[in-house]
Amino acid sequence: MTAPALQTTRRCPYAPPDEHTRIRDTDSGITQVTLPSGQVAWALSRLEHIRAMLTDPRFSSDRQNPNFPRFTREQPNFGLMRPSIIQLDPPEHGPARKAVVGEFTVRRMAGLRPRIQQIVDEHIDAMLAGPRPADLVQALSLPVPSLVICEQLGVPYRDHDFFQARSSALLSRAVTNEGRQQAAKELRDYLKDLIAEKAADPTDDLLGRQLTQGNDPEDVLSLAFLLLIAGHETTANMISLGVVTLLERPDELAALRKDPERTLPAIEELLRVYTIAEFANSRVAVEDVEIGGVTIRAGDPVLALSNAANHDPSAFDEAEEIKLDRGARHHIAFGFGIHQCLGQNLARMELQIVFDTLVRRIPTLRLTTPADSLRYKDDAFIYGIHEVPVTWDDPA
Ligand code: HEM
Repeated sequence: MTAPALQTTRRCPYAPPDEHTRIRDTDSGITQVTLPSGQVAWALSRLEHIRAMLTDPRFSSDRQNPNFPRFTREQPNFGLMRPSIIQLDPPEHGPARKAVVGEFTVRRMAGLRPRIQQIVDEHIDAMLAGPRPADLVQALSLPVPSLVICEQLGVPYRDHDFFQARSSALLSRAVTNEGRQQAAKELRDYLKDLIAEKAADPTDDLLGRQLTQGNDPEDVLSLAFLLLIAGHETTANMISLGVVTLLERPDELAALRKDPERTLPAIEELLRVYTIAEFANSRVAVEDVEIGGVTIRAGDPVLALSNAANHDPSAFDEAEEIKLDRGARHHIAFGFGIHQCLGQNLARMELQIVFDTLVRRIPTLRLTTPADSLRYKDDAFIYGIHEVPVTWDDPA
């Protein structure tokens, strides 16, 4: 019997696709599915099983392994560059992560807070001065994390149209393989030139410091490529999804305005229910492993249905409900184990500053289109919304 094709469309934006829920609720919670690439992969759907996989060295993150689960038939040509930390297994992963982790410490993040607040305020000022309705995605969700990661890395923000277009092509399932390869090449060439300039004339930014610390420019290139993409699309989509959710819940929005202590737990819940990097926790088995009574053979692709896992009723009470004060942090929206998201504290801080500032500065902010008629990104590797039309009243 052939394995059924994987379904990826969400009926409800904050719930897993129905098929993923069905898989999770079978006896083992594990089954085989056929990916759009034609590969047959094991699909894991329970929090316990995915966490077990993510802490088991018998599963590899090597995205260049031909058996790594993928959505397109041809492998995107990431052989263009050396593997970056997200693709490395131990023992290479540890030193590569150590070389950059100091850039994302809580102390470093706290140092960035005033500048991020300024960026958010300036973008809100510009939105308020512009026409109504405005598209929140273009006015705020995309430029804020984009500008933040540019300043952190030392990438000129004036080039944002160029790298945002390449980055969204790379993350789209609707773009052909050739289109994605072209985008990867162009972004690689752009960053290669930038890194050569920094090597010749050192700058005090993340990429500059990597070079002055003696890291190989080829490794710095792979890191820059990863951080530039991971650093803005993800957070941008969470800003849009989060604002829409809050605007749809006026009572909870009012509670948040009164008590900013509620923002961080709300962010955790939004991360859980949307699980935007739904398949990012996937792996390939490099030895035979038994999980949940199922034997996964060496070489088998394993797809993590992380959204289903983050709605697993054995891990979260009333898992299908959005409870902004739930306070549960054991979700896997940022992954788990050695590859857990390096930028998670930055992402949380950006989300916190955006939500707090928006609710404080524009109390009359509202959608001009019902949330269920917005265009959700069912065709992208990172879930999100294409446009969020909003309006507001003149200040009284
Ligand atoms: C890894 C999600 C924001 C940089 C990951 C992983 C997930 C994830 C699920 C694990 C991948 C795996 O196990 O293979 C998210 C989400 C974000 C976000 C949902 C926003 C809401 C960011 C930001 C940055 C970033 C802002 C950088 C500034 C990274 C890096 C890794 C990673 C470098 C790889 C870490 C490693 O392999 O050791 N992210 N991310 N992410 N993320 Fe994020």
